[in-house]
Amino acid sequence: MDLFQSCLDLLMASKDTLTAALCWLLFYLVNYPDWQQSLHQEIMKVCGASGYPSYSERSRLPHVQAFISEVLRHASVVCVPPQHMLKVGATTLQGYDIPANAQVCANLWAVHHDESLWLNPHRFSPDRWLTPQGEYTECSTLIPFSIGQRLCVGSQLAEMVIFLFLTTLVQDFTFKPPEGVHDLPLDSTYRLARSPLPFDLIVECRKSN
Ligand code: HEM
Repeated sequence: MDLFQSCLDLLMASKDTLTAALCWLLFYLVNYPDWQQSLHQEIMKVCGASGYPSYSERSRLPHVQAFISEVLRHASVVCVPPQHMLKVGATTLQGYDIPANAQVCANLWAVHHDESLWLNPHRFSPDRWLTPQGEYTECSTLIPFSIGQRLCVGSQLAEMVIFLFLTTLVQDFTFKPPEGVHDLPLDSTYRLARSPLPFDLIVECRKSN
């Protein structure tokens, strides 16, 4: 029963979150064609037309890393993770009193859009992750999987899936908005995760060109 419940927990926690993250990747690829082009060029330069990138090669793909980090920040797939309850009695955190048995809930959206942490946080700008020399820099205030002891247990799997999904698709396909559509609207829906509203897109195979 414990094994069954654990498998169910993993499935429930991964299905909506990962699906939403993959939809956001497609959304931003369509809305930012220049970035799509630059990701394609970088992947072709590092891997050529025949080989697909492996996750261990990610440090050689700074634009891909920057794009993924910016999607996770800007879209903030899990804006407000499930609440947690204090295990200890009343305590204080940065001057705030937290009573015993209080339920505490993080706001990851607020962290990812905090003007004291990010320049123009509402702007989608993968450049913010790149140094002037074009190297990718990590930032500890990007916390899409939350932080602390209850950090998402699937974070490494999710990062791997997102990287492989993005690089493999961008290598072989181009993604465009439907005829006459310029920008897909940033409207979203939220259940367990924040997802873009359903949108149409045109997928063209690069190899047939
Ligand atoms: C982009 C994809 C994902 C995002 C953004 C995400 C985000 C999160 C966040 C913010 C939490 C809450 C942490 C907290 O309570 O402080 C969480 C919990 C959790 N996630 Fe993920 N997650 C993703 C993918 C996955 C995948 C692929 C799996 C499993 C294979 C998974 C399994 C879990 C589980 C089991 C928990 C509960 C952990 C606990 O309560 O200790 N997640 N996730």
